[in-house]
Amino acid sequence: MRVDVISIFPEYFAPLDVSLIGKARERGILDIHLHQLRDWARDVHRTVDDTPYGGGPGMVMKPEPWGEAIDAVLAADPAAQPRIIVPTPSGVPFTQKLAMEYAAEPWLLFTPARYEGIDSRVMAEYGARMRVDEVGIGDYVLAGGEVAVLVMVEAVGRLLPGVLGNAHSAVDDSFAPGAMENLLEGPVYTKPPEWRGHEVPEILLSGHHGKIARWRRDEALRRTARNRLELLAALDPETLDKHDRKLLSELGFPA
Ligand code: ADE
Repeated sequence: MRVDVISIFPEYFAPLDVSLIGKARERGILDIHLHQLRDWARDVHRTVDDTPYGGGPGMVMKPEPWGEAIDAVLAADPAAQPRIIVPTPSGVPFTQKLAMEYAAEPWLLFTPARYEGIDSRVMAEYGARMRVDEVGIGDYVLAGGEVAVLVMVEAVGRLLPGVLGNAHSAVDDSFAPGAMENLLEGPVYTKPPEWRGHEVPEILLSGHHGKIARWRRDEALRRTARNRLELLAALDPETLDKHDRKLLSELGFPA
């Protein structure tokens, strides 16, 4: 997968050299290109922002440098088109489902903004020609979109074939489609069996795979009920077996 990022802080993306994503880059699974937006500014101060029309606080990113920068990235492969992802707290929520959708794309272009965001005509211009998604990573406001890009590249990158390897797998993750859809993963344990008086739940030492799977599902349901009621409400009743229904009813949520 090719990933381009245009930003006034390309140095922000140093973490993409580390760990799982760094290895995926070394192995050529992820081909990441970082660009300095100011390279496409025209004045001596390399200005990329200006005051907002209509007044108000803060500054807005000017359309011209963005347009020229995006055009230059698009020219890298005129036969193809990237999916453009504009991080903004006003966007659609970034979810595991969207991460999977992005993992199936050959080319992503991220345009993280600083200040109050990018002049909206940039999204209108490219949105008329290709897929442009405005995406938020959570209901809070960051100082800029760079961290949001790191979050999305990591979530997408670990889903690419060959990145996690066989020992790991994304199928048991929280939110993974299938059995874990709308469920949070439960608690995990490793050796020693007792630590500071806390014991590992006995069932996990039993070697009984069926009972362990059932216990894990119970814990996932419990944790979801405790931490994310709105996810519990979104559970598809078709995916609930008799035991699930009994547990949910005990927890005070009759299916
Ligand atoms: N830029 C600032 N805050 C953001 C958020 N929550 N998600 C994506 N981009 C952002």
